Amino acid sequence: VSDAIARAVEVLRAGGLVAFPTETVYGLGADPQNADAVRRLFAVKGRPPTHPVIAHLGVNARLDDWAISVNDAARALAAVFWPGPLTIVLTRRPGAIVDEVTGGRASVGLRVPDHPLALELLDAFGGAVAAPSANRFGRVSPTTAQHVHADLGDDVDVVLDGGSCRVGVESTIIDCTSAEPAVLRVGGVALEEVERVLDRPMRRKTAGEVAAPGTLAAHYAPRARVEIVDRANVAARAMQILSDRKTVGVLHLGPRIDVPEKSVVLGPPSDAEEYARTLYARLREADERGLDVVLAVPPPPGRIGTAVADRLERAAHREPSH
Ligand code: TXA
Ligand code: MG
Repeated sequence: VSDAIARAVEVLRAGGLVAFPTETVYGLGADPQNADAVRRLFAVKGRPPTHPVIAHLGVNARLDDWAISVNDAARALAAVFWPGPLTIVLTRRPGAIVDEVTGGRASVGLRVPDHPLALELLDAFGGAVAAPSANRFGRVSPTTAQHVHADLGDDVDVVLDGGSCRVGVESTIIDCTSAEPAVLRVGGVALEEVERVLDRPMRRKTAGEVAAPGTLAAHYAPRARVEIVDRANVAARAMQILSDRKTVGVLHLGPRIDVPEKSVVLGPPSDAEEYARTLYARLREADERGLDVVLAVPPPPGRIGTAVADRLERAAHREPSH
C-alpha cells in the first residue's frame, strides 16, 4: 500500500473526509459506520440530510453483507458491470451502515467503482466508503483533483489525485428493490446494456423528471445560463446574445460550426464519449471565463449520449426560487 493510500485510510478511520477518483467523477468519502463522519460529509457538501449517499465497495465485497433480499437481477448486474459505472439500489441490511448514509431510508445504493486508486483505497480500508460526488451541493461534479480543491478547499482532509476521470458523468442508477428494476438515473452504463443483461425493456424517465430521491431537475448547473439549441440555430442565437452585450460559449459535437468571432468554442468534442468525459470541465471553463450563456447542442440520443443530454437538460433547467 502506498503512503498516500495508508494516510487516506488513517483519515477515514479517524472520521475524516477523503476525496478519491473514480471512473465517473471524484467522490468525497467517509466511513459509513461513523455517524459523526457522515454528518460532517453532508455538512461539507451542503447536502440535505434526507438525500442518500452511495456506498462504494471493493472488488471482494459481497452484496449480502450490505443488502438483504438480493434478487437475481441485482446479482446479474453486479456480475456484469462491476467494477464499473453502475449503482444498484437494494434493501439495506440493518446495522451494516449508519442511518445517516441513506437519509433514513430502507434502501442503499451500492457500487464498485472502476478506478485503481479507488479500488486500492477500498481494499485497504476493508469496508464500504460512503461517497457523494466531491462538489458542493447542486454544482457541477468534479472530474479532476484540481476541481475538488477548487470546490472544497480545506474542508477535505485528503485528495487522492488520479488524473482526469475516464467516463466523466456519474453512474447509472438501477433500483432493484422490487421485482421490476427501474432506472433512477441515466449515466455511465448505457441503458441498452442494462436491458440486454436483464433481458427486458427499462422504463425511461422523461427529461427533468425527479428520479433518484433528492435529485433536483436543476442539479449539475454552472453559473452560466445553459441553453439547449439545435445545431442549425447555434450561429443565429450566438449573434443575438452577443448583440445583447452578453458573452456566449458554444458546446457541440464536431465538426465545428461557423459561429460569430466573439463566441467562445468549448471543445468541440469529437464523439459522445469525449463529450461525456469533458462535459463538466467545459462547464467549469465557461464559468472561469465568466461567460453569461452556454449554447449546448446535445449529442444524438443512445448509449452515453443519453446521459450527456440528461445532464445538459438539468444544467439548463432553472428551479423557480422558493
Ligand atoms: O458516479 C457516481 O455515482 C458518483 C461517484 C462518486 O461514485 N457518485 C455520485 O453520488 O454521483 P451523488 O451522491 O452525487 O449521487 C448519488 C445519487 C443521488 O441522486 C441519490 O439520490 C442516489 O444516488 N441514491 C443513493 N442512495 C440511494 C437509495 N438508497 N435509493 C435511491 N437513490 C439513491
Ligand atoms: Mg452529485
